Amino acid sequence: MPDTQRKILVTSALPYANGPIHIGHLVEYIQTDIWVRFQKQRGHSCHYICADDAHGTPIMLRAQQEGITPEQLISDTWTQHNADFAGFNVGFDNFYSTHSDETREYAELIYNRLNERGHIHSKTITQAYDPVKQMFLPDRFIKGECPKCGAADQYGDNCEVCSATYSPTDLINPVSAVSGEKPIEKDSEHYFFKLTDFEAMLKEWTRSGHLQDQVANKLSEWFETGLQDWDISRDAPYFGFEIPNAPGKYFYVWLDAPVGYMGSFKNLCDRSELDFDDYWAKDSSAELYHFIGKDIMYFHALFWPAMLTGAGFRTPTAIFAHGFLTVNGEKMSKSRGTFIKARTYLDHLNPEYLRYYFAAKLSNRVEDIDLNFEDFCQRVNTDLVNKVVNIASRCSGFISKRFDGKLADACSEPALFADFISASDEIADLYETREYSKAMRAISALADKANQYIDEKQPWVLAKQEGSDAELHAACSVGINLFYLIAAYLKPVVPEMVAKAEAFLNIDTMAWPTDWQPLCAHRINKFKPLLTRVDNDKLAALVEASKQNLEKTPTSAPAKTTDKAKTAEPALIDFEDFAKIDLRVARIEKAEHIEQADKLLRLTLSLGDQQRQVLAGIKSAYTPEQLEGRLTVIVANLKPRKMRFGVSEGMVLAAGPGGKEIWLLSPDDGATPGMKIK
Ligand code: MSP
Ligand code: ZN
Repeated sequence: MPDTQRKILVTSALPYANGPIHIGHLVEYIQTDIWVRFQKQRGHSCHYICADDAHGTPIMLRAQQEGITPEQLISDTWTQHNADFAGFNVGFDNFYSTHSDETREYAELIYNRLNERGHIHSKTITQAYDPVKQMFLPDRFIKGECPKCGAADQYGDNCEVCSATYSPTDLINPVSAVSGEKPIEKDSEHYFFKLTDFEAMLKEWTRSGHLQDQVANKLSEWFETGLQDWDISRDAPYFGFEIPNAPGKYFYVWLDAPVGYMGSFKNLCDRSELDFDDYWAKDSSAELYHFIGKDIMYFHALFWPAMLTGAGFRTPTAIFAHGFLTVNGEKMSKSRGTFIKARTYLDHLNPEYLRYYFAAKLSNRVEDIDLNFEDFCQRVNTDLVNKVVNIASRCSGFISKRFDGKLADACSEPALFADFISASDEIADLYETREYSKAMRAISALADKANQYIDEKQPWVLAKQEGSDAELHAACSVGINLFYLIAAYLKPVVPEMVAKAEAFLNIDTMAWPTDWQPLCAHRINKFKPLLTRVDNDKLAALVEASKQNLEKTPTSAPAKTTDKAKTAEPALIDFEDFAKIDLRVARIEKAEHIEQADKLLRLTLSLGDQQRQVLAGIKSAYTPEQLEGRLTVIVANLKPRKMRFGVSEGMVLAAGPGGKEIWLLSPDDGATPGMKIK
């Protein structure tokens, strides 16, 4: 334990629960995870929490579109996110969900306190409303022509063609992205948080070392334009928490999102010795840090400290904002195969490559970073594999073959070892201040020194000379000891590789090097490759697979991504993918209307030996009478899907653009129910 043990709580922004984790997100989670691992390695008490951000209109609509409940959607997404993070060794102490009792409890508490203290007021506002879907439309769900340049199909907040920003009422020929209908204007009462009550507090807070300079400057601009009160309510239908004593009104997702930090931590406290108030009470002496992307500064540097202050909680110690990821110099793009999902990456490449690469690029400034594939291979192969891993492999063979796996009794280069130890403070400072790229450079310089030492000693020459055993033993032992320290310094970045190094060195899990002694007369294990070079073919396969990941951006729920590719190129599938689909002939025994469903019919199908219920969207083209008795083709091995009107156990195949023009696929008579289609 260090002389003074710090108590630290760290968060990363909560990913939205309506999409997969991609490598852009990973900049943040890897940056944070490295910092947390560093603090833990130093012996501090540090807890890293996160959660899925589960509320809001896009999630509600996405679930509807998939025919599942929002609860089902967020639970499926949570499972995927959790697995993706684990795959990249992002070691949360708790990964929770904002759709939780704990988050609800604190959201209500904060709201009630703000309300009691007069920081909430209500007023009626006019908003775009979808008369068909019967819901108010957020800006991003209204599309139309740009009022500046006339580009078609632009979202209600900004134009992707000319970058103009405007309000949705300015759009020409606006339509709802949900129904395609022209929105109408409608009044509704909304609740506002009086951010202006906190202007003095915020001006002071944002200038007192809690923010990076670039962020503080940005905020000054916002102060100059004048703070606006913040609309924190949304009307039903909405997926979120209902506001206390305001039936039909819900907290806007951004109100409960940061409260999710508290909710996740509370959930951890309830399962451990940790005390919630120790960390969040007004007089808390614990440190609290939020890592975020530059796009969400407003919420974290203005609303959040104001909400916390107004409700009697402590404010963050600091907010650390980072820039955005570009790939090969451009925005991530689905068609170029650079919109890379965490899962697709993991299917092809070692996660530690990306961790190391991001570390080699990151600084503590709010700058975008670029993932360049050539640079990626070069840094991983040259700096990590050739330089670092090689030190161990160059020395270990002689130790195991010639000296029975045992290091020399004494270190022959105490000054060199001491030199490596003395780099500890500088490297620690660089990690602490999030100057990872400088830290990687400092470590790389040590690796150069170690390699230089080995080059000078030439163990491969010594090994062939009579009477040079002691010298060979000494040199290789020094090499291994230098590697030992380098591995310790790299541990926050490449924990898996270093765990293998610890096994090789036959030592316990390493703390941060302080006044360490060299390993002497110590038995090490046989060397196994700790990390292999990036395989170019696998990298190419990753890009190819990412192209194939192209999925149509659903019009009803535009995902907030850096890429809005609207047209999907048809992706080729392997024969194995095709072979997975079990197509069968089915007889439609019964077809029924479903009350309230405008598109679906309920079909009872016979597959010969079994019956299936399928909900098919063919009501606009067929009456039940036209269907009963007919043969059709179904996908028989589709996972059952829970839809609003029941479970559907398969998919009926049909062709056509929709509406009246849907033609059910019908095999000729002679086929019998249950037959497999080849
Ligand atoms: N749900 C909100 C955050 C709520 S925090 C109380 C959100 N979610 S997000 O999924 O869109 O983004 C999560 C984090 O990932 C954000 O900090 C965001 O800045 C970051 N990134 C998302 N795409 C990114 C890149 N392409 N590059 C770097 N960071 C990116 O915002
Ligand atoms: Zn425009």
